[in-house]
Amino acid sequence: MASVTLTSLHKTYPGGIQAVRNFCAQIANGELVVLVGPSGCGKSTLLRMIAGLEEISSGQIHIGDRLVNQVPPGDRDIAMVFQSNALYPHMTVRQNMGFGLKMRRTPKVAIAARVAKTAKMLSIESLLDRRPRELSGGQQQRVALGRAIVRDPAVFLFDEPLSNLDATLRSQMRSEIAALHKRLRATMIYVTHDQVEAMTLGDRLVLMKEGVVQQVGTPLEVYHHPANQFVATFIGSPAMNLFRGEIKQGQFHTPDGKGCWQVDRATEGPVVFGIRPEDLRPARDGEPVFAEARPTLTEHLGHEALVHLDMAGGSHLARVAVEVVRDLGEKFPVTLRSPSYHLFADNPEGLALQPTCEASSGRQGTVS
Ligand SMILES: Nc1ncnc2c1ncn2[C@@H]1O[C@H](COP(=O)(O)OP(=O)(O)OP(=O)(O)O)[C@@H](O)[C@H]1O
Ligand SMILES: [Mg+2]
Repeated sequence: MASVTLTSLHKTYPGGIQAVRNFCAQIANGELVVLVGPSGCGKSTLLRMIAGLEEISSGQIHIGDRLVNQVPPGDRDIAMVFQSNALYPHMTVRQNMGFGLKMRRTPKVAIAARVAKTAKMLSIESLLDRRPRELSGGQQQRVALGRAIVRDPAVFLFDEPLSNLDATLRSQMRSEIAALHKRLRATMIYVTHDQVEAMTLGDRLVLMKEGVVQQVGTPLEVYHHPANQFVATFIGSPAMNLFRGEIKQGQFHTPDGKGCWQVDRATEGPVVFGIRPEDLRPARDGEPVFAEARPTLTEHLGHEALVHLDMAGGSHLARVAVEVVRDLGEKFPVTLRSPSYHLFADNPEGLALQPTCEASSGRQGTVS
């Protein structure tokens, strides 16, 4: 096991695409860090650079204390699991799992013991003599995981390893990877564009957009204290509602004058006011009102429902308990669970205006 330190990493592809820009992160020994961001934001490029499969344009990669910029992939002591698992079709599961060790001239007895131990850990002992085509997608992915584990690498890299699986299997494998991480205490870097996967799996998240780190923090830090509008709308499902407007005399106002809320911020001027769907609810008598809302559509999720609301000059979402839905009239006053609003600068950067907690404030992206 080892830490991974990434210092000012840049990657510009031939043709000029800047896939990764000034990426810095320190991943502690034994930590599970999830790199998350929309498609094309540079996650795979970053992972491939760590693995040595992609040349870096500038910057440094340390695994433990060792600078590995010039070290070939096979000598970096890293195991990578991809979306498509690329098992060798002509080999059995046992041979697939042992292949990496065989290439390293590990004695046969030791290979057999490690394959057996790992197969037991992943409950795939009964599959050892089958070939990949005789396995389901989930079983194949488990074998790919096993192939990485038997090598006992310093660092595991995962590039969306579950995205080919159906929802049930994906959630099951996600728990297995989390359990595996607890058990092995291995350093893992896990890439996904699925924010639910990121929230449930990572000790810490690194959020990326267009090759640049937007925020680093624990899942709850990034959820409760998003550093900017991008993070605010990317993390959390459905996304945070955003209202453009301005602060006047300690109150936020929407431009149509129909939305208004007292805020804890003295500075006046244009801002973006953010409120999560679960923090909006009908106001009872005497409670402060944010705006009048007209429900336009209700989506039932079981014990909760998503209610689409026409309010404060736009369409927004509230997530409420089903009992609440029954009592909604044609029009009703909406209040906020307080203090639950977020304020952002009204510019393309959209930085958070309220204090964020220390660990999540770093746009330079230090994971420690
Ligand atoms: N070999 C390449 N040559 C040129 N441009 C590339 C190459 N590989 C990736 N890119 C570009 O670099 C950017 C980052 O790509 P990357 O594959 O790292 O994104 P990603 O975050 O992994 O996306 P996804 O979630 O879709 O897998 C994209 O704009 C992509 O088009
Ligand atoms: Mg990718």
